[in-house]
Amino acid sequence: MAYLTPHSTSVPEPVRIGLVGSGWMGAFHAESIARRIPGAVLGAIADPNLDSAEALAASLGVEKITANAEDIMADPGIDAVVIASPARFHASLITQAAAAGKHVFCEKPAAQDLDQLDAALAAVQASGVHFQIGFNRRYAEDFLAAKQDVSAGTVGRPQLLRSLTRDPGNGSIPLAAKVPARTIFLETLIHDFDTLNWFNEGAEPVEVYAVADALIEPGLRDQGFLDTAVVTVRYSNGAIGVAEANFSALYGYDVRGEVFGSMGMVQAGRATETASRRYAAEGLAAETPRLNVELFRQAYTDELIDFSAVVRAHRDGVSPVASAFTVTPGAADARRALACALACIESVKQGGPVPVPGALTLQSLPTT
Ligand SMILES: NC(=O)c1ccc[n+]([C@@H]2O[C@H](COP(=O)([O-])OP(=O)(O)OC[C@H]3O[C@@H](n4cnc5c(N)ncnc54)[C@H](O)[C@@H]3O)[C@@H](O)[C@H]2O)c1
Repeated sequence: MAYLTPHSTSVPEPVRIGLVGSGWMGAFHAESIARRIPGAVLGAIADPNLDSAEALAASLGVEKITANAEDIMADPGIDAVVIASPARFHASLITQAAAAGKHVFCEKPAAQDLDQLDAALAAVQASGVHFQIGFNRRYAEDFLAAKQDVSAGTVGRPQLLRSLTRDPGNGSIPLAAKVPARTIFLETLIHDFDTLNWFNEGAEPVEVYAVADALIEPGLRDQGFLDTAVVTVRYSNGAIGVAEANFSALYGYDVRGEVFGSMGMVQAGRATETASRRYAAEGLAAETPRLNVELFRQAYTDELIDFSAVVRAHRDGVSPVASAFTVTPGAADARRALACALACIESVKQGGPVPVPGALTLQSLPTT
C-alpha cells in the first residue's frame, strides 16, 4: 500500500531552551527537554566544565556548547534558559537572562540572600519575562491532588501542616566537611517551606523556630555542620506548620506532605516505587524510590512542560491555559520560601523563634 499524504498542518515554532549547568539536575532537565517535552528544543548548553557540557550535548544531539552562560544569553535563537548551576550563581544568572529578554526557569534556591534575590527579581519584572522556580513537588500527582482538595475546601480551615524530606543515604554523608551548615535550610527544606506555603496559600509565614543538629555526622557538630532539622512555621492565618529533614534515610528518598484542617486531612507522599508487593516468609516487602529522579521523574518533567507552555504563550501573545488552583511557582513563592530558610539559619544561631523577614509581625496574628 502506498503512503498517504497527510493534510498539511501548521507546526508551532518550538520553544528553544538553553541549559546553564550540566551537572546532576541539569542533565536530567536536559534529557526532559530533548526527549520528553513536546514542542521544546534544547538549543545550547553552558557549563564552565566543558567536558560535562560536551558529554551531555553529545548524548542528546545538541550542537551548541559553551563555557560561558553569556553566550546563551546573547543567542537570539534561544527563547528561555533553565538554570541548574550551583546556587551561588543563580541570582546573577537570573539577572543576566532577564536583561537579555530570556524567560527563566531557575532551580532552587533562586538566591542565597534576599538582597540578591530582590535585585534579580527586579530585573525579571523590568523585562517582563516569565520566571519559574524549581519547586517540583507541586507537580507530583499526589501533592497536586492534596492541593486540589485543600483549594476545594475539603479539609476546611488548615490548622496543622506538615512537610518532610529524608534524602536517601547510607548512614554517612560524602564530603560532609565541605557542606555548608546552611545547606539543609537553603537547598533541602526550602522545598518543604514551599510545600507548606503552597498548601496554606493566602497566608504568610510569620515566624520560624528551627532546631537542628549533626546526628548522622556527629563528629562535625563542632564545626557547625547540620544534617537533621525540625522547623515549626507559624502562619498569619494561625495555622502551624512543621517541616523536617534528614540527609540519610537508609530506605530511600522519602518525601511527604499533609494538611490537617477543621474538616479533615489530606496526605501526599509515595512510599513505594511501584504498586508491586513481595510476600514471603519474612513478611511483606516493596521497592522504595532511591533517587530524586525516580521519585520525581514525572514532576520534574511536568514542571518543564508547564514552563515551556507559558513561554510559548508569552512568545505567541496568547493567554496561558488557566488552572483551577495555583500550580506554577513564581517570584513571590521563591522569595517566601527563601525568607523562611534564611530565618531558620538565624533561628539556629539564636536558639529560639525568629520572625520571617518581609512577613507580617506576630502582633498581627489572629488571636482566635
Ligand atoms: N529540585 C530538586 O529536587 C533538585 C535536586 C538536585 C539539585 N537541585 C538544584 O540544582 C542545582 C544544581 O545542583 P546539582 O546537584 O545538579 O549540582 P552539580 O554540582 O551536579 O552540577 C552543577 C553544574 O553547574 C556547573 N556550573 C558551575 N558554575 C557554573 C556557572 N557559573 N554557569 C553554568 N554552570 C556552572 C558545574 O560545572 C556543574 O556541572 C542546585 O541549585 C541544586 O539545589 C535541585
